[in-house]
Amino acid sequence: MSVQSLSESAPTDTGLPVRARRLGTDPRDALALARRPWTLETAAGTVTVRGAVPADLRGVALMHGRCSAQTLLQRYLRGGTAPSLTTMSALLQQPLVVVALSEAGDVVGLASGSRPAQLPGRDAEPGRTLQLGLVVPDDAQRLGIGRALAAHVAASAVLLGYRDLVADVSAQGLPLRRILDGIGDTRSTRHPGGSRLRTRVDRSVLGGLGPTLGALAG
Ligand SMILES: CC(C)(COP(=O)(O)OP(=O)(O)OC[C@H]1O[C@@H](n2cnc3c(N)ncnc32)[C@H](O)[C@@H]1OP(=O)(O)O)[C@@H](O)C(=O)NCCC(=O)NCCS
Repeated sequence: MSVQSLSESAPTDTGLPVRARRLGTDPRDALALARRPWTLETAAGTVTVRGAVPADLRGVALMHGRCSAQTLLQRYLRGGTAPSLTTMSALLQQPLVVVALSEAGDVVGLASGSRPAQLPGRDAEPGRTLQLGLVVPDDAQRLGIGRALAAHVAASAVLLGYRDLVADVSAQGLPLRRILDGIGDTRSTRHPGGSRLRTRVDRSVLGGLGPTLGALAG
């Protein structure tokens, strides 16, 4: 990885706004590391995580078909339905999106870091904040995939210069709360559509970066 301090004029061709902080990491290198394939051992077999590509659309759509309405509601809030293919396709083209794949090639998790959605009646989130999007289909939950993906996005966020992660849930969101509590100081704010969880992230979360945790793949 090249060593280069970030500055106000740092390149933004990662597709994400680059935070002006002196981390000594080129944002393009940070993003490449975030998307690099790695593996995670679970009780149901080896899971491979890598940067998402447009060709993942079919697998991601099928994964949403294996999610219960409750899971979809927690992830997407409105109505407990899966997003449209157009929305999924747009998501897969964002820079900080990773998919988790089972040994059979099924998508068993999807995680993203993006600029936060604006809540009705609330000020926009400051530039230091990244929104976590995370979903694991019901048939792959409670295997540690969600925790590993969230830790990976949190570490990637720090490498990219962000200091807060936010995630929106429709109800209490206990699994997510347990995950975020394990990452850093987490607070919850209620809003008409549910709750926004906010977690402080700093260098202490860098050990959660997938390629440093699991074996490199591919
Ligand atoms: C949140 C989510 C991604 C967690 O995925 P997962 O792979 O099941 O999570 P893990 O296996 O890593 O478990 C994480 C923690 O949640 C707990 N947990 C998981 N499912 C749970 C459940 N149904 N009830 C209570 N706790 C639960 C686990 O016990 C674990 O906590 P622990 O390690 O302290 O025991 C998954 O439940 C999901 O997709 N939920 C719906 C979408 C959502 O809430 N997304 C977040 C908002 S963007």
